[in-house]
Amino acid sequence: MEPIKMPKYAVEWNNLLLIYKFALSEVNTKLNILNDEFQFIHSHNPIEHIKSRVKTTDSIVSKLKRKGHEVSLENAQKYIHDIAGIRIICSFTSDIYTIYELIEKQSDVNIIQIKDYIKNPKPNGYQSLHLIVEIPVFLSDRTAPVKVEIQIRTIAMDFWASLEHKIFYKFNKFVPEGITEQLKECADVITHLDYRMLDIKNKMAQYK
Ligand code: GTP
Ligand code: MG
Repeated sequence: MEPIKMPKYAVEWNNLLLIYKFALSEVNTKLNILNDEFQFIHSHNPIEHIKSRVKTTDSIVSKLKRKGHEVSLENAQKYIHDIAGIRIICSFTSDIYTIYELIEKQSDVNIIQIKDYIKNPKPNGYQSLHLIVEIPVFLSDRTAPVKVEIQIRTIAMDFWASLEHKIFYKFNKFVPEGITEQLKECADVITHLDYRMLDIKNKMAQYK
């Protein structure tokens, strides 16, 4: 049987996505090393778990169109910063900044953008620390600088964000007012809860 031939543009897009997949592997390895070393030295895991994904071609194309850019490989690399995305979930707010500092220290990681929605939550209550980083991916014929979006948040912040995301999609952006208010209240409870949990952890440390 003849192998199915993919159109040239599809091959090119798949090649691009593959490079972002490599970038995710690189960042995942870095994070696992940092987490294991931190556990060894401080007997504490700053990372609870990690999720990562590469955006689909369809989703890249619709984001390019939404932002008013022509659909091309070049524009995807230039304007879409979350083709490769990693979400790091921590137990405590302090872990978020520990991880940030560890990432910042890595000499081959270039931090391009920081958005601190923990110090400055979004009006809806959304909290997370967002980084856009660029890392080198070593290929057989060249070294490609690749952007990765890193979102760092606590378990509680992640719980909130996943519910808010579901609600946002269910109501197709027109969320009933009562729900918006309730979500904002929950976000405030989460800030308080994260603070109380960190306080308990710090008190525990005094009893070593
Ligand atoms: P895009 O939203 O990706 O166009 O970029 P942006 O410039 O708005 O970046 P930002 O850092 O604000 O958001 C990037 C990502 O964070 C989003 O794609 C979501 O995954 C997440 N995010 C941002 N705001 C919210 C929010 O209000 N609720 C939830 N659930 N997720 C959010
Ligand atoms: Mg956005």
